[in-house]
Amino acid sequence: MTLEDVYEPDEDSYLLLRHVERLVRGRVLDLGTGCGIQAMAAASKPEVELVIAVDLNPRAVGKALERAKEAGLASRINLVIGSLTDWLRGELDWIIFNPPYLPREEGISELSWSGGEKGGETIERLLKRAYEHLKPDGAILLVYSSLTGLDKDIFRGYRVELLEELPLFFERLFCVLLQPRL
Ligand SMILES: C[S@@+](CC[C@H](N)C(=O)[O-])C[C@H]1O[C@@H](n2cnc3c(N)ncnc32)[C@H](O)[C@@H]1O
Repeated sequence: MTLEDVYEPDEDSYLLLRHVERLVRGRVLDLGTGCGIQAMAAASKPEVELVIAVDLNPRAVGKALERAKEAGLASRINLVIGSLTDWLRGELDWIIFNPPYLPREEGISELSWSGGEKGGETIERLLKRAYEHLKPDGAILLVYSSLTGLDKDIFRGYRVELLEELPLFFERLFCVLLQPRL
């Protein structure tokens, strides 16, 4: 897979999707939207006001737009090409993120799944800034893996609730809810 390919929904996508369908409302930011699976689930909910969906892969944004139009949801999703921190703006109720979370492999640079040398760098970049853009009762829904290298104090500043743990063949996936500590 190259950067030009669009990430096909996988176990991590469906793990996050279950909680998006159950929890999100208000103003929602879907980071790394890929084919738009999370953005469309959010936009289908009447309690969601608006979804901003961002991906740095233009082909992903094109595909998500096509799918949103087919589903009659295009007017409820603001799809943009950009990097995650560009779109941390205003006051959000929810940030949804199925990030690239695996450690980089020798000679392969793939932004769909590689979150940097350790795997956790993209998540760390987001968490350093996200709390400034959440409403006081706002929250983040985040997926990562037992293979993701995360600094031990990465979640400092957030209350963390483990919503679901999914054992797979080589790894475990986690879906967590993070709320900034006031
Ligand atoms: C694991 S895929 C998730 C796709 C989709 N949200 C899902 O749940 O199936 C990660 C997505 O994040 C995008 N991405 C990676 N780094 C990014 C960044 N810095 N800013 C915005 N999008 C990024 C990739 O292009 C890819 O579409």
